Amino acid sequence: MRIVLLGQPGSGKGTQAQRLAAAQGIPRLTTGEMLRVAVRDGAPLGKDAKRYMERGDLVPDQLIVALMQERMGTADCARGYILDGFPRTRVQAEALDAMLTTVGAALQHVLLLEVDEAEIRRRLSGRRECPKCGSTFHLTAQPPKVAGVCDRCQTALVQRPDDQEATIARRLAVYVRETKPLIGYYEARGLLRRVTAPGGPDEVFRAISSLITMGP
Ligand code: AP5
Repeated sequence: MRIVLLGQPGSGKGTQAQRLAAAQGIPRLTTGEMLRVAVRDGAPLGKDAKRYMERGDLVPDQLIVALMQERMGTADCARGYILDGFPRTRVQAEALDAMLTTVGAALQHVLLLEVDEAEIRRRLSGRRECPKCGSTFHLTAQPPKVAGVCDRCQTALVQRPDDQEATIARRLAVYVRETKPLIGYYEARGLLRRVTAPGGPDEVFRAISSLITMGP
C-alpha cells in the first residue's frame, strides 16, 4: 500500500504515519525526520537543509527529490510505504508520479488531515520530541509516562527549534502557498480523502483505518 499524508504543520501526520506504518507493516518515510537526522549527524544534506528548516522554509525540491528517490529504491519499500511530509510542492508531486510510473506502482490514498488553526498552534507549542529516537509527545494530549523523558529510550525530550511562535507562523504561510495546492492536484485524480476527526490520536487513527478499508 502507498499512502500520502497531507496536512498543515502539526496536523498529526507524523503521529498517524507511525501508527499506519506499524499497522500495515510497511515503512514510514518522513522527510522532516530524515532531514533532522542529517542535520544532527552533520551530513552534507543536513548542512544544506539546516538554514531553510530554521527559517521555516521548504528545503529545495531537487534535494528532497534526490533524497526520496534513493530512499524509495531500498528493499523495504517494495511492498509500499507511508509518505509523511512528501510531496510538499507541485514539483515534488510530479516527481513522485514519475518515480511511481518508472516502477509500475501507484498511490492508493492521499489522506488530508484537517485541523483548525488554534488547535494546530496548541499542538505545535506543546510538542516535545526525543532527539535520539524521534518519538513525538505532547505535554497534555500525548504526555510521556515520566515527564520530560522519552518512553522508548529514556532520553530527555526537547522542543523542536522550528516550533517557536515566529517560525510556526512562517511554516503555516509556506503550507498555504506551496502545499495546499496539492489538495486540488490529488482531488482531480480521485485520490484525496479528508480526515476531519476532531478527537485524539486514537480516534483519528480509527477514522483513517475505516477510510482505507473502504477503498477508493
Ligand atoms: P516536518 O517535520 O515534516 O514538519 P511539518 O510538516 O511542519 O509537520 P510537523 O512534524 O510539524 O507536524 P505533524 O503533522 O507531523 O504533526 P505531529 O504528528 O508531530 O518538516 C520540518 C521541516 O523540514 C519543514 O519546515 C521543511 O523545512 C523541511 N521539509 C520536510 N519535508 C520537506 C519537503 N518534502 N520539502 C521541502 N522541505 C521539507 O503532531 C504535532 C503535535 O500534536 C504532537 O505533539 C502530537 O503529539 C500532537 N497530536 C497529534 N495528533 C493529535 C491529536 N489527534 N490530538 C491532539 N494532539 C495530537
